[in-house]
Amino acid sequence: MYLNEIVCESCGFLCGPDNPVTSCPDCGSPLKLQYDFARMNQEASRNELSGCGVKRYRELLPLDDSPVSLGEGDTPVVRSSSLGSDIPGELYFKLEFVNPTGSFKDRGTVVTVSKACEWGMNAVVDDSSGNAGASLAAYSAKADLDCTIYVPARASGEKIVQIKSYGAELEEVPGPRERATEKLKENTSGADTYYASHNLSPYFPEGMKTVAYEIGEEFGWSPPNHLVVPVGGGALLIGLYRGFKELARLGWINRAPKLHGIQTKSCNPVVTAFENSWDQTRPTETRPTIAEGAHISNPERGEEILEGIRNTGGQALEVTESEVKRSLRELAQKEGLFVEPTSAVPLAGLKRLNDSGAFEPGERVLVPITGSGLKDAETWRAS
Ligand SMILES: Cc1ncc(COP(=O)(O)O)c(C=O)c1O
Ligand SMILES: [Zn+2]
Repeated sequence: MYLNEIVCESCGFLCGPDNPVTSCPDCGSPLKLQYDFARMNQEASRNELSGCGVKRYRELLPLDDSPVSLGEGDTPVVRSSSLGSDIPGELYFKLEFVNPTGSFKDRGTVVTVSKACEWGMNAVVDDSSGNAGASLAAYSAKADLDCTIYVPARASGEKIVQIKSYGAELEEVPGPRERATEKLKENTSGADTYYASHNLSPYFPEGMKTVAYEIGEEFGWSPPNHLVVPVGGGALLIGLYRGFKELARLGWINRAPKLHGIQTKSCNPVVTAFENSWDQTRPTETRPTIAEGAHISNPERGEEILEGIRNTGGQALEVTESEVKRSLRELAQKEGLFVEPTSAVPLAGLKRLNDSGAFEPGERVLVPITGSGLKDAETWRAS
């Protein structure tokens, strides 16, 4: 393992990797992991990768032991048969919903839960009514950890059924979404319980870097020119940004793809900040959206999301609810991909990017398909 230390870039807090931190104990900001890059550069080789899935990149991950795996990663890349004919280059989908709990979140969870086990934790908690909660519940079952998920009282649907089915405890908290986080913090204490927050833990986005590693390898270390990605808390986009940056630094790829971040007009803090500047103290007003996974009004790592989009030459774009619904239907009916509404957000964004001339002839464009349609069959029943 090349993990050296954990730092807070806001206040300078520093600690060693044995500390089970979630956010900065001094100022509450998100923390970052720092690696011994010189040693990684000397020792790690892309020709020596072995094993399957996320475990294949174990050496680059911040893990001492073998991860608590459910077989995540190694998700297929398929070339678009129909929708891609509208763009000048080639369109690919990476089927992240093939992961063990039906979403890309398993990549972040496998690292977070494995770390909790390394520290000797007995229990994990998170606030999520969605894919992250279902994923944490599954990996906790596998690792024999007690798991409690705090959800708003109105939460319903397949994801809640999934969380319960793994034997996790569900704490239903009346009031807005933020109350679930507050209640979690009020109720959680004890040195043997880890707040495995998918939005805050420094380990979660590190697991997400494996999407970049896989894309690198699947494309013969010459990754696509563009990635079009849905953005909620930003773990996926940040994981891709960090992952490709690391591969470029290691000399395994020549250039990182442009990362385009797509949100809905109903909840668009990143798009608003991209056009202006980031202001953490003022969450944007939001409206209900069918893309519930991208409904985060004030993402904790907002500045790094912007950095990832800007530094790679990407764009932040918003799309309407009806554009998402049309993309949802097209993915199923033209590509055979039954996805949940949040996963259709990037295709709607891709169309806008294409209309604005963002893609050149011969360029390759990839869209990660983040979650299964089985997670939200209700939307389909209602449409
Ligand atoms: C299916 C799906 N897609 C995309 C996202 C957004 O991902 P992130 O929070 O990493 O930006 C989520 C988040 O919950 C999700 O569930
Ligand atoms: Zn701090």
